Amino acid sequence: MTKLNLKPKDFLVILTGAGISAESGIKTFRDSDGLWENHSVEEVATPEGFANNPILVWKFYKERYYQALSVSPNPGHIALVDLEKKLNKNFLLVTQNVDGLHDRAGSKSVIEMHGSLNTCFCTNCKKKELMSDVDLNPDIPICSACGKMLRPDIVWFGEMPYRMNEIYKALDKATVFMTIGTSGNVYPAANFIAYVRNRGARTIGVNLEKPENMAYIDEFFQGKAGDILPSIL
Ligand code: OAD
Repeated sequence: MTKLNLKPKDFLVILTGAGISAESGIKTFRDSDGLWENHSVEEVATPEGFANNPILVWKFYKERYYQALSVSPNPGHIALVDLEKKLNKNFLLVTQNVDGLHDRAGSKSVIEMHGSLNTCFCTNCKKKELMSDVDLNPDIPICSACGKMLRPDIVWFGEMPYRMNEIYKALDKATVFMTIGTSGNVYPAANFIAYVRNRGARTIGVNLEKPENMAYIDEFFQGKAGDILPSIL
């Protein structure tokens, strides 16, 4: 397979989605009729869903947390770690994934724009806590500072993704943009590629199926990220 042939002066921004973790054994979102592990998005991925049934939502994210801990990064994640070592500071990895696998693989410059299963925060005083420090036995875990309800540190539908300023600063510098394992359905992430391409950046896609924003991809590699990334990078 052709190598990407990145230049030392390139500034690369990568966006990853559930597809890069599929080969680690974590299900993607849109391969099961819009259901996430048998739950609707409204039930488990909206502030209203949490307000209606915090016990169910907590049960769901505890399961996701333990599942993510039980799997390992795959060759796709590792290829991005090696790439970052080559590009040093000219590299930013933005992920929509909440499984922490980029971090565990060893990626350093990572923005988890949809939050993380490894943290939670207080609904009252906003104190952030590591899930590993929290007593997860109660149906609804409690803040160690103020005793009120904790909630998963996941950006739910209707909430603002994290660190958007930093992301757009990097997109403004990007000469190359890669989208990997994401269907291009969820905004604002789905729009990053159009934004950089309008600035003249080179765009590359790696995905099992053609994503929604295919029209903005200059070079498309169809297949599994764990097979393709190690061979093109
Ligand atoms: P999706 O489930 O929408 O898309 C996953 C994409 O990965 C699909 O286009 C698949 O074809 C592709 N894919 C599957 N296996 C692959 C593999 N081994 N290698 C490469 N590609 C593969 O997941 P996302 O696009 O990540 O939001 O979903 C975006 C957001 O919607 C998520 O972050 C989540 C969800 O609701 C929140 O939780 C806030």
